[in-house]
Amino acid sequence: MSDIENAILSLRGESVELPLVHGTEGYSGIDISGISKLGHLSYDNGFQNTASCQSSITFIDGEKGILRHRGYDIVDLVENCSFIEVAYLIVNGYLPTREELAHFSRHLNEHSLIHEDMQHFFTGFPADAHPMAILASMVTSLSSFYSVGNELGDFVETAAKLISKVRTIAAFSYKKSLGEPVVYPRHDLSYCANFLNMMFSSPVRHYVIDPDVVKVLNKLLILHIDHEQNCSTTAVRLIASARGNLYASISAGICALWGPLHGGANQAVIEMLSRIKADGGDVRKYVQMAKDKKDGFRLMGFGHAVYRNYDPRARVCRKMADDLLRKLNLNDPLLDIARELEEIALKDEYFVSRKLYPNIDFYTGILYRAMGIPTNMLTVMFALGRLPGWIAQWKEFYDNEKAKITRPRQIYTGQKHRPFVNIDKR
Ligand code: CMC
Repeated sequence: MSDIENAILSLRGESVELPLVHGTEGYSGIDISGISKLGHLSYDNGFQNTASCQSSITFIDGEKGILRHRGYDIVDLVENCSFIEVAYLIVNGYLPTREELAHFSRHLNEHSLIHEDMQHFFTGFPADAHPMAILASMVTSLSSFYSVGNELGDFVETAAKLISKVRTIAAFSYKKSLGEPVVYPRHDLSYCANFLNMMFSSPVRHYVIDPDVVKVLNKLLILHIDHEQNCSTTAVRLIASARGNLYASISAGICALWGPLHGGANQAVIEMLSRIKADGGDVRKYVQMAKDKKDGFRLMGFGHAVYRNYDPRARVCRKMADDLLRKLNLNDPLLDIARELEEIALKDEYFVSRKLYPNIDFYTGILYRAMGIPTNMLTVMFALGRLPGWIAQWKEFYDNEKAKITRPRQIYTGQKHRPFVNIDKR
């Protein structure tokens, strides 16, 4: 079907030459924009074989289990950097110098508060509102308090502003759900330490910040930081394609992330493990259920649209879970169930033949639980980590003068033209 530079697509004696689009590594693409000359559209359910853009932010080789950001291996970043350093890398394309990092941190501090009037919004939500609903609404609301249009000039500051405020919103929404007064951010604390302090200290409780917990939180947020054109990032770019503002675009990403097949899986994993525990801990029964197509039950935290190998992020999380629980002297029965589930599934023909491995969400919930973060906040933690990625992807889209509004086509399957029937004759 292809020569060196072009692919030829033939149909019923007609053919069209389709140019190849090359990246630096990984798949090349076939530019199918000329395909309509054949009188047909391309059809790709879920866009799983379609590159929606060219991007220089993240590289994944799903067969080999490789994940790199701006060329750096995810494990090197997790081992050596703070979350803020990698956020800078993702947004700007290069690792910051000490001065650049200090400058970025100053911006994070300057913008850490949210407008006091926004505090009223929190009180309007019912006490059991899901924190993802609050987060999405509050991020959209930011666009009515802070102008986006004027800030694009200093994008480092724009990015810092959003990264800082979203952390504050996340912690405030948790405090509101407890009915406790909010804890304001402190300039003397690092990004992650500040977040933990805002979550867990209170006027009646002094929270001691454990540097090991801060380290693990940094690593977890880095592991979430970007993952090329996943569902939520695609939502962010989709809104950007209509020239939607940054806050509105990120809010769309938050909503997409919430779904249990995407970032909401971390909450679903903890619910699944708790259900197995409450049901007597019979792991094999649930593996069996996951294999039964009629059952509708899936192993949450297993499988991935891109990885056909062990998710490199899950490998890091599995080790971190062992280390953190040991360090904190915690015994979480859910970790034992998770380990057993993984062991059984990875030997089972169903999972082996479909190349289904644990994904990032399989062990993260256990880590967050060990830090004291409640189950309904788990996807918010994913959003905090993913935020720099969304910002970078939004900016990449905005800077591309050739980018078009996203407007897929469809294969129509409805009624053909039929005569109108008056309401009295139906
Ligand atoms: N449990 C049982 N069977 C599964 C699972 C699972 N978790 N995942 C996929 N399968 C089966 C699926 O039924 C299908 O079987 P068959 O070929 O017999 O029809 C086969 O494996 C291929 O699955 P698929 O639905 O084509 O896979 P996909 O690439 O469309 O979906 C997925 C990927 C992540 C939505 C899916 O694996 C899933 O639902 N996993 C559970 C939810 C989850 O953990 N999501 C988090 C993903 S990682 C975080 C992030 O979103 O970035």
